[in-house]
Amino acid sequence: MYRRFLRPLLFRFDAERAHTWSLRAARLLQYTDSSVLNRLYGYHNARLEQTLWGHTWPNPLGLAAGADKNGVALRYWHGIGLGHVEVGSVSAQPCSGNERPRAFRLPDDEALINRMGLNNEGAKVVAQRLRKYAGDTYEGDSGTPPRPVGVNLAKTHDPSIMGAEGRADFCASFRELAPHATYVALNVSCPNTRSGKTFESPETLDALLTDIFALRREMALDVPILVKLSPILTERVIFDSALEARIEVAESHGVHGYIAANTAPDRHGLTTDTSRLQAIGRGGLSGPPLHARSIRLIRYLHRATEGQVPIIGVGGVDSAETAFAKIQAGASLVQLYTALVYHGPGLIKSIKQGLVGLLDTHGFDTIQEAVGTDPVLERFVL
Ligand SMILES: Cc1cc2nc3c(=O)[nH]c(=O)nc-3n(C[C@H](O)[C@H](O)[C@H](O)COP(=O)(O)O)c2cc1C
Repeated sequence: MYRRFLRPLLFRFDAERAHTWSLRAARLLQYTDSSVLNRLYGYHNARLEQTLWGHTWPNPLGLAAGADKNGVALRYWHGIGLGHVEVGSVSAQPCSGNERPRAFRLPDDEALINRMGLNNEGAKVVAQRLRKYAGDTYEGDSGTPPRPVGVNLAKTHDPSIMGAEGRADFCASFRELAPHATYVALNVSCPNTRSGKTFESPETLDALLTDIFALRREMALDVPILVKLSPILTERVIFDSALEARIEVAESHGVHGYIAANTAPDRHGLTTDTSRLQAIGRGGLSGPPLHARSIRLIRYLHRATEGQVPIIGVGGVDSAETAFAKIQAGASLVQLYTALVYHGPGLIKSIKQGLVGLLDTHGFDTIQEAVGTDPVLERFVL
């Protein structure tokens, strides 16, 4: 239905407009009788359930940051069977983002390029929405109360907010949003800022984590803090000194998890015409071309942390096989965004069903058993 009717209609419009309309529809649909969405998309299997950071995750599949930045359609995402939603990136101040056009489809690669520039309604508005959602009772496909909602934080997109002010900006968002989040993700790797700077250098990351962990203690919260990193761009990796330094800093603060990975700035492995790519210009690449790059980072993190710190794998998940590859590489949870644009909401159920089939094929009882079982992890080169 999506591929035959809705996608051709949506693809007549530019990527951002199509997304805005889809989100409006999702916002309305979430208030229909939950049994309608459940009949279409519901699929629950206890073998996909796991407990992480003290919470139950009904299945490993979640919505990646960027798809519902302001958390307007949380009931819809959960209604179509996603196990969790990551809202954001949200910044302390509302922000309109970069000039349009800023999102582009590459249909030949089933990929996207975006330079949205952290457009969002700001921490206060999103916090109000999350507060309301937490008060809702919701009968999803497992009949549980509201599902896990992660909140992804970024610095307000304004190059004049730098250094200590930048950290204070992150902390202001944390103060508003962390009490309503199942986890907080720090987006330290956004490739689309006007200043071109990220928070990934060891010194900047160290200072940011110092402030965030101090605030978490002051607020007496036990919310897990996750760090979202850039993908590994090289074909093969033995040792990556910049990444090692980041992991060392994150581990020294006792970070509770990693998200691997953000979009990639490069254009490797694409079949799309170079003239089209040049016309699009800069922006982060997502979708299938990101899969191998994010897998390398997941493996690296899993090995570096000896499998002790949960990882959320994201980038090019578009099938049960790609999701399972990330899980075997070391991810406990996976997320997707671009594949929903190309395949529609029915994909969620088919990935979950496919994952159960893959558990059988590989002889695992539960999804948790499959985490980090990729034989590549035993090798010297990832
Ligand atoms: C249009 C668009 C906007 C995005 N915005 C954000 C964002 O605000 N914060 C963030 O951490 N990641 C953002 N992402 C990155 C996604 O969360 C994800 O890391 C990336 O798209 C790879 O997953 P995918 O291949 O399933 O799309 C965005 C991605 C896209 C396509």
